[in-house]
Amino acid sequence: MAFDAGTAAALAATRESLRAARRIAVLTGAGVSAESGVPTFRDALTGYWATFRPEDLATEAAYRRDPQRVWDWYAERRKRLQHVQPNAGHTALADFARRHPGRLALITQNVDGLHQRAGSPDVIALHGDLGAEQWLDRPRSCCLPDFTEDGHPPRCGVCGNLRRPAVVWFGEALPAEALAAAEQAAAACDVMLVVGTSGAVYPAAGLAHRARAAGAQVVIVNPHESDLDAVADRLLRGTSAQVLPELLQHW
Ligand code: OAD
Repeated sequence: MAFDAGTAAALAATRESLRAARRIAVLTGAGVSAESGVPTFRDALTGYWATFRPEDLATEAAYRRDPQRVWDWYAERRKRLQHVQPNAGHTALADFARRHPGRLALITQNVDGLHQRAGSPDVIALHGDLGAEQWLDRPRSCCLPDFTEDGHPPRCGVCGNLRRPAVVWFGEALPAEALAAAEQAAAACDVMLVVGTSGAVYPAAGLAHRARAAGAQVVIVNPHESDLDAVADRLLRGTSAQVLPELLQHW
């Protein structure tokens, strides 16, 4: 992979920082899966939020208003995932973790499971799991997802309680355990790589500020500008599948 001279120098410097780091944290977003063929959210033409409004698809109110529409959108995203594979960026992170046990904490906003499928251990998943479901309302003793018609959101046949995707919707709290683990990793790391995220969504984006405030070097991997550029010590303008192998392979 050929990089321009400036990027090549920044890559070399980042590799040195990573080698010297006792603890590395990596915060990923939708951009790490873009080269697997999974759409991002905010890329201008191809991102989900270029076509859809998040308040119609990614809030509890939207689900209560029109469960079928929201269910269909998540079902479509799940189906798409059956046809994609982890890319060289996911693999570089997983292989590095295998070679350097305990040195890298991987925090992701992604719900696509591709880091896990690539073999990354102990992934800190801040926004849930697209492949999992949970009850919409607190389940009662009657609640079994027994009333399931093909293609419709499953519900309890007695009280009607709906199943929903186990992802974090706008306005909802992040899973407490994952957030605590992520904050701890951000506070303890020597270098944080921020890969493929617009940095527009908090509290996830706040982890980069937290790492920086704790004295870590923050390096952004993104072909475009992001909301976190001002927090970064270094910007690597390339794609995840190009840059991560350059940074993490062969040592
Ligand atoms: P965004 O869609 O907001 O940002 C994707 C970022 O990836 C952009 O900055 C792109 O420039 C960058 N990008 C695109 N292709 C890339 C590539 N090949 N390599 C590296 N970077 C690339 O996605 P997130 O920041 O992940 O929330 O969005 C954060 C949250 O907003 C998501 O987790 C989701 C969404 O609403 C929930 O699902 C709760």
